[in-house]
Amino acid sequence: MVKTKIGVLASGRGSNLQSIIDACEKKEILAEVAVVISDKKDAFALQRAKKHGIKAFFVDPEKYSSRELHENAIVNILQQNKVELVCLAGYMRLLTGVIIEKFEDRIMNIHPALLPAFPGTHGQKDALDYGVKITGCTVHFVVEQMDAGPIIAQAAVTVLENDTVETLAGRILEQEHKLYPKAIELFAKGKLKITGRNVKIKK
Ligand code: GRF
Repeated sequence: MVKTKIGVLASGRGSNLQSIIDACEKKEILAEVAVVISDKKDAFALQRAKKHGIKAFFVDPEKYSSRELHENAIVNILQQNKVELVCLAGYMRLLTGVIIEKFEDRIMNIHPALLPAFPGTHGQKDALDYGVKITGCTVHFVVEQMDAGPIIAQAAVTVLENDTVETLAGRILEQEHKLYPKAIELFAKGKLKITGRNVKIKK
């Protein structure tokens, strides 16, 4: 069986990247991480990639005069590496149409809240501040609006009375590391069908 080639975009520590690499290496998912790209020179995600013999690139946003040109450079790397699925894993930039058009319905993101609740960069803190009793994480397809694309999979996490942002984020992260590989596996098996806002999982 042919493995789906994944390109991961990450800005930071890359624990979700690690969970994807591990799932690929353990053959839990029929995929391989072909390339990792970061907009941050010191992203630990790049080191994780190198440790596993995966190509790792820092694409410096400051070298380009627009977001579109920066993204074009990223698209070139993804295409050179024959990437079929792009996974955002803590990538802290809003995507432009450049990459979204080239990889339509083939870009996923993971968000640390149950979308459409608490989009944005502080999903765990916002949930805690709001006082919800259940939050969690969401894997969704990416559209130009932030955290707004069709939802592929979600996992719930109970908020505890004595939770801090850190303890809650830690339990959500445990679920993220299980959920993202599962969503990728569904994609790799060709089981995801997008109809409008709905993602149906074929039997
Ligand atoms: C995760 O909480 C993810 O949901 C969010 O950014 C964080 C990335 O963490 N989009 P890591 O770099 O994968 O450890």
